[in-house]
Amino acid sequence: MTTHRDHPVLGRFNSAFFQVMGGYLDRHMRQHKAEVFADLPGTVVELGPGVGANLRYLPPGARLIAIEPNRHMHARLRRAARAHGVDLEVRSIVAEQVDLPDASVDAVISSLVLCSVGDPEAVLREVRRILRPGGRFSFVEHVVAEDGTGTRTAQRLLRRPWAWLFEGCSCERDLAGVIRSAGFGSVDLQPYRIRSPFLPFNTHIAGTAVTASATVPA
Ligand SMILES: C[S@@+](CC[C@H](N)C(=O)[O-])C[C@H]1O[C@@H](n2cnc3c(N)ncnc32)[C@H](O)[C@@H]1O
Repeated sequence: MTTHRDHPVLGRFNSAFFQVMGGYLDRHMRQHKAEVFADLPGTVVELGPGVGANLRYLPPGARLIAIEPNRHMHARLRRAARAHGVDLEVRSIVAEQVDLPDASVDAVISSLVLCSVGDPEAVLREVRRILRPGGRFSFVEHVVAEDGTGTRTAQRLLRRPWAWLFEGCSCERDLAGVIRSAGFGSVDLQPYRIRSPFLPFNTHIAGTAVTASATVPA
């Protein structure tokens, strides 16, 4: 079945776009990615890895379980994983319904994905479900700008063509609020701003949310 996220034309366009623009986007985000993706464990689950923008932040010899519904991303992602020496397992499913057991992983990561998923609250429920107690979700995402700013005006004006071109991506989500309300034990996140010609995209957050540790019975 062809879904919105593996549309024959837009799915291919997005795969090619992120391949071509990967280096440019990384230059804007690498300082924050290097911080929040530091010290990841040997096995990581990534939501929507696209063509592999975050492979370079994984530890040497890492195993990556990739939750990537756009099949047009897969060949590039596999090639990039081979080049980075990452042991890749691709699951062509959405992050709202992950086929991994409860409390089975130590780390989940995402970049520029919670803007695109159909239901960010459901995705974060799944992230909490699959993480072990004390496990971490590390993210770099673009978010809604403050009211009254030029970026916010650009987001309002461009939201429809933006969502069409980037397969459902919303430039108007308060993802800091969504992550803070998702029931993690702790959330540490930082807003930051990039300067790019893609105006609706310039307001970001980066951070880590940690699931509550299991309580030891007295
Ligand atoms: C804007 S791209 C970002 C790709 C990559 N993370 C990066 O930083 O370059 C959004 C990605 O999220 C994926 N995606 C969209 N909806 C999703 C969902 N419900 N579950 C998991 N991934 C999803 C898309 O297929 C795409 O690969």
